[in-house]
Amino acid sequence: MKPSASLQKRLGLGLTLGMTLLWLGGTVGAWLVVQHELNEAFDSALEETAQRILPLAVLEIGSREQESEAQHVPTLRMHQEYLAYRVRDAEGKVLMQSHDASPKIFSRPSSEGFSNTEKYRLYSASARHGTVFIEIAEPLSHRREAAREALFALLLPLLALIPISLLGTWLFVRISLRSVLAYRRAVEVRGAGDLSPITVARLPAEIDPLAEAVNHLLERLRKALETERSFTANSAHELRTPLAATLAQIQRLRHEAPEGPLRVRATKIESSLRELTRLSEKLMQLAKAEGGGLLSETPQDLIPLLAHVVDEWNHNSGRRIELQLPTQASVFTAIDPDAFGILLRNLIENALKYGATDQPVEVSLTSQGLLRVANGGAAVPESVLQRLTERFVRGSSESSGSGLGLAIAKTIVHGVKASMTLASPAPGRADGFEVAIQFHLAPTPSG
Ligand SMILES: Nc1ncnc2c1ncn2[C@@H]1O[C@H](COP(=O)(O)OP(=O)(O)O)[C@@H](O)[C@H]1O
Ligand SMILES: [Mg+2]
Repeated sequence: MKPSASLQKRLGLGLTLGMTLLWLGGTVGAWLVVQHELNEAFDSALEETAQRILPLAVLEIGSREQESEAQHVPTLRMHQEYLAYRVRDAEGKVLMQSHDASPKIFSRPSSEGFSNTEKYRLYSASARHGTVFIEIAEPLSHRREAAREALFALLLPLLALIPISLLGTWLFVRISLRSVLAYRRAVEVRGAGDLSPITVARLPAEIDPLAEAVNHLLERLRKALETERSFTANSAHELRTPLAATLAQIQRLRHEAPEGPLRVRATKIESSLRELTRLSEKLMQLAKAEGGGLLSETPQDLIPLLAHVVDEWNHNSGRRIELQLPTQASVFTAIDPDAFGILLRNLIENALKYGATDQPVEVSLTSQGLLRVANGGAAVPESVLQRLTERFVRGSSESSGSGLGLAIAKTIVHGVKASMTLASPAPGRADGFEVAIQFHLAPTPSG
């Protein structure tokens, strides 16, 4: 699957790109207008200057005593002129010119009005019925520079606008999506079994219906699961009494039956009934484990609970369970004592049932809250091992069982946010089976 794109990144880039393009479009438009207006202004200045100079030149030429060489109008100091001009008569004789007017500029025969050469904008006008002409030239580079500067002035703000737009969009989107991020966090932090509605204040209108739909879904899921659990628990409970009554009847029947096939059959029925009773017992345990309430309000010390269960087993079964406790006085964790009992009984029951009879079952608890139940016996293949914690999955089919023991253990372990690992062969041995559960330590209650 492609990684989903960040809305923040997309909007930031998209808006910035859009703004840049629009700005560039606007700049080009504005620049064309400015260039046109500049040309008009320059042209009118050129024309104006020619019209001013011409009458003065005509006066000056008329008052000369003798025909002299073309005169350079004296300037106060040498300077770089923007404008160069030349006044001539109808034969082309130069009567007057500005100090840097070179013949190169006015090489072309001029027509009245505006014209362009490669480097100059020219304007020419006549007076005294076409006997005196003025030609005036302005370098085009001057206009080009003005146009270039106008373009830069229009483009310069873009340099600042791009980072501002990126940052601004990023911030703005981040602020706008704050509640969505809060929603995401609220979903992320909840535990696997938490099906309560997710409430986050003021989600955007686009997301709100989605959150509502999710809550509806959660609600339906919760109801379905509750129904299932209570059904399991109720049916297991309802089965108890009739099962016990039938068991008592069949035991009587077995006693009363004469030696022979009838008694054998009664014995078989009795063991089937016992199996059924165990199954309903396991179903009740599973329903309790799935029903929640596995955490206790006050932290429990695991050491006395563990010692109690192990004692009980050692007392009932002839086999030894070796118990190793930490030197530390107590190991506190927030687990319901009943749930802990169910968990431990299922593990020890398995170890006794499937472990090698000539080897002890080892139960140990460390001060870090690591509980281990290990036994000898043939190792379980890896492929089977992974599936053993699923409901109704069993390894060896020789001995009877429901396949629920490890599923119950896993449910309880998840419910108290601990972790469980199965290993076979048991660590540090060539064979055997080990279940290790790491509990979260709770702070020692004061007092
Ligand atoms: N301590 C153990 N040693 C060897 N195999 C085990 C042990 N505990 C569980 N198993 C295997 O895991 C399977 C599932 O166990 P469990 O869920 O308790 O169901 P059940 O005991 O009813 O079969 C067992 O059938 C057995 O093959
Ligand atoms: Mg079992």
